Amino acid sequence: MGRASGKPPGRPLSDAVRMDVHAPWTWSANPGATVYGETLRKAKQGEWRRWDPRRSKVASGLLRTSGAAERLLPAPGDHVLYLGAGHGTTVSHIHDVVCHGGAPGRVVAVDLSPRCLRDLTRLSHARPGLVPVLGDARRPEAWRAWLPRRASWVFQDVAQAHQASIFTSACERFLVPGGRGLLSLKVESDRGTDADGLRVKVEHELADAGLILEEVIDLEGFEDKHLLFVVGRPPRA
Ligand SMILES: C[S@@+](CC[C@H](N)C(=O)[O-])C[C@H]1O[C@@H](n2cnc3c(N)ncnc32)[C@H](O)[C@@H]1O
Repeated sequence: MGRASGKPPGRPLSDAVRMDVHAPWTWSANPGATVYGETLRKAKQGEWRRWDPRRSKVASGLLRTSGAAERLLPAPGDHVLYLGAGHGTTVSHIHDVVCHGGAPGRVVAVDLSPRCLRDLTRLSHARPGLVPVLGDARRPEAWRAWLPRRASWVFQDVAQAHQASIFTSACERFLVPGGRGLLSLKVESDRGTDADGLRVKVEHELADAGLILEEVIDLEGFEDKHLLFVVGRPPRA
């Protein structure tokens, strides 16, 4: 972990997020604590946390997108659904964003590994609004009560077979009309299809589910064999 002080890093994307050439930074909702050994930078009334793009597909997507990076992120106060939360690396930065300035945001962080849940639960003690859920993304009936209203942002990073259909079901059930979804796709995880074939297949699945594909971001170099699909759910007519 590094600690530095001085001027804020990079340029602002919002009050909660800044971007330098190598990484985004988030304004910490829990200053003084690191989650995964990330660099902290002190500021007058708090602290910035460097968001490592080699450890987070959302962070690498922010660096690689050809559009406005801020559109990939939720806003302060949003309720969001995160499937495949792992040990909380990316979750913690998303929590910084939705709970920025004391906003009543909520991150419902689902993972099926008890070891991950142990770390997420520890993290949640210092971060109100982070809701760790031991559950299977494929069985939402078991955990949907933790998401009392639809999410404005859904992210999925489960790295397992049938990733696209798990994601489209989650968006159909839980993404608010007008909301945005990000699917991190591990290209190797669906057997029997090459990378290009898999990409086309996923694009069709997203379209069939009524989702508008905005961008496919290749994360090669940060996360090899990973694509990040950015979709929007059309607003109700
Ligand atoms: C690549 S890791 C997630 C890393 C995390 N998103 C991050 O950026 O820090 C994939 C996670 O998905 C979880 N996972 C795999 N299949 C799942 C499923 N069906 N439901 C919920 N979690 C699942 C695994 O336990 C693992 O923690």
